[in-house]
Amino acid sequence: MYKSILRPIFFCFSAESIHHFVAAMLRFARRIGMLPLLRAMFSYKHPSLEREVFGVKFPNPVGLAAGFDKNGDLYREMSAMGFGFVEVGTVTPKSQPGNPKPRIFRLKKDNALINRMGFPNKGLENMLKNLRKRNNNVVIGVNLGKNSLTSNEEAPSDYLKLFRSLYEYADYFVVNVSCPNVKNITDLQNPDNLNAILEGLFEFRRGQNSYRPILLKISPDLSFEQIDSIIQILIDTPLDGLVAVNTTTSRSNLTTDSKTVKRIGNGGLSGAPITDRAISIISHIHKKTEGHYPIIGVGGIMSPKDAQRMLDAGASLIQIYSGFIYEGPAFAKKICKHIRLAEETPKQQ
Ligand SMILES: Cc1cc2nc3c(=O)[nH]c(=O)nc-3n(C[C@H](O)[C@H](O)[C@H](O)COP(=O)(O)O)c2cc1C
Repeated sequence: MYKSILRPIFFCFSAESIHHFVAAMLRFARRIGMLPLLRAMFSYKHPSLEREVFGVKFPNPVGLAAGFDKNGDLYREMSAMGFGFVEVGTVTPKSQPGNPKPRIFRLKKDNALINRMGFPNKGLENMLKNLRKRNNNVVIGVNLGKNSLTSNEEAPSDYLKLFRSLYEYADYFVVNVSCPNVKNITDLQNPDNLNAILEGLFEFRRGQNSYRPILLKISPDLSFEQIDSIIQILIDTPLDGLVAVNTTTSRSNLTTDSKTVKRIGNGGLSGAPITDRAISIISHIHKKTEGHYPIIGVGGIMSPKDAQRMLDAGASLIQIYSGFIYEGPAFAKKICKHIRLAEETPKQQ
């Protein structure tokens, strides 16, 4: 029904307009008390899907990736759509408009998206207002970024400000320094810059009564050598885990004609073309760390089989963005069912 009726209609409109339309419909559904119905239709509960990762309990391992609920005003709706956790943001200290539109493009032939959003969001105060309303039924991660106008030298204070203010309101945090759409932000992935950001967060956390896991989201464009220096930080510091991966600036593995791709221009590619790269990075990290550190696997999960491959490669949890756009509202449920079956199959042998 989604692929044959709704998706062709949705795909006649700009990706961002449809995003706002669907978000508005979902919020309306909540206001008129329809979330239990959505939950009954789209979520799948089973004890074998429950996970405990970095001290947080998840009802299932399938999360919504950052960027979909940028302002933290859709997490109840997305939980009703079957997601076991929702990563809100990227939030920046001040609200900012992001890059000029259009800034999300569909590559239908490739089951992919290119976006150059540039962290549009309503800022910290608005995120706080939204997360104060939470009642802990939904597991929430907050993805932290710096404002576009903040220089890389001043970036640590942006991350610290967000972390301190939101500390009480999230189950885990993700330091995002891997977005290809914010000028020079990916330079923050080098160890000196990273340590400068992370040290401030660790110090603040040491003074708190409660513990909030801190993860780092990495780019698929890092070389394995660069990934190894990040693994070293994981080993040497109290960093709790990695989110792998963000979107890529690469344009390989595309069947869309090169003229169209060129016309779209800059941006991060997500969806089917990045599946293999994401899985190889997860597998590399898992092997190098002997499975000692949690990895949230994200990037190109377009089918339950992709989800299973990512879990088999060593991801403790997975996240979806492009797959939800292409596969529709029942996608999280479909993956959960598949994972449950896969887990039960060996037991029956
Ligand atoms: C339109 C769009 C906006 C995104 N915004 C963010 C963001 O704000 N922060 C972030 O960490 N990742 C962002 N991402 C990246 C996703 O969280 C995810 O890492 C990436 O899309 C790969 O997953 P996928 O192939 O399932 O889409 C965005 C992706 C898309 C398509």
